[in-house]
Amino acid sequence: MSIKIENLKYIYDPGTPYELVALDDINLEIKSGEIVGLIGHTGSGKSTLIQHLNGLLKPAEGSITVDNIILTKEKGQLRELRKNVGLVFQYPEYQLFEETVYKDIAFGPRNIGVPEEEIDGVVRDAMAHVGLDFDQISEKAPFELSGGQKRKVAIAGVLAMKPKVLILDEPTAGLDPKSRDELIEYIRLLHEKEQITILFVTHSMDEVARLANRLIVMHKSKIVFDDLPKKVFKEVETLQNIGLDVPEVSKLVHQLNQNGFKLNEDIITLKSAQDAILSALRSKTC
Ligand SMILES: Nc1ncnc2c1ncn2[C@@H]1O[C@H](COP(=O)(O)OP(=O)(O)O)[C@@H](O)[C@H]1O
Ligand SMILES: [Mg+2]
Repeated sequence: MSIKIENLKYIYDPGTPYELVALDDINLEIKSGEIVGLIGHTGSGKSTLIQHLNGLLKPAEGSITVDNIILTKEKGQLRELRKNVGLVFQYPEYQLFEETVYKDIAFGPRNIGVPEEEIDGVVRDAMAHVGLDFDQISEKAPFELSGGQKRKVAIAGVLAMKPKVLILDEPTAGLDPKSRDELIEYIRLLHEKEQITILFVTHSMDEVARLANRLIVMHKSKIVFDDLPKKVFKEVETLQNIGLDVPEVSKLVHQLNQNGFKLNEDIITLKSAQDAILSALRSKTC
């Protein structure tokens, strides 16, 4: 499913002394099957933007179109939109409320009318997508699980509704490095297998380098970059000026080049950096 956002503006508390323009003339088109990273300093408008994509917030101006579902200030087919667009909030584990993992994951599909005989398969499928063992975990209470497992249960709950567009707001925030790594890998596999459109918010350029085929950078309610990650990573100074960093690998390549190396600045993965550095060193010493 594709997403088109045109001239979107959003204002918190309009007409009061606290009025704040949180989104200012946002234009953006995401094609079906893309996996897009959204990054920006805290308060730049990321969460406000993604909450428009399943109709939690309504535009003050402009429109959001998801395939042929249109949302504007005046109208919106919210039911249709929410069936297709799955939104995983920041710290979604705070919203687990059923007494077992199974019931929690089954809640969404039951709610949208998936027939009872299909529920079991849907829950198993969703758990498999995030690497949760059905036999070991489905009858446990969510509070018995680790932080990383709870997060996965919450994501499985959204996947169980089989969304065609998946939006994740900082899915790895607050997780330990191992759980973070695992989750990134599951998101990557999900995208590879199901070809759904994914938009994820993150603070980590390294996650963008690993996952995204496109990177959108927000600053003060506007989009400032929208390009291939490797192209955006070259904008080291501009990114630093708006409080963002580049991936560690990009920094390393940039610094080596300032010290006489001639490495390709498109390199964004550890493996390709290693290969390029080794081959540069060999050609110097041999
Ligand atoms: N419910 C709200 N009421 C008023 N202002 C808000 C609300 N939520 C967010 N804001 C403000 O809107 C701006 C954008 O916030 P947000 O979209 O949460 O940014 P981000 O997700 O990039 O950190 C910030 O200045 C924030 O303080
Ligand atoms: Mg946010």
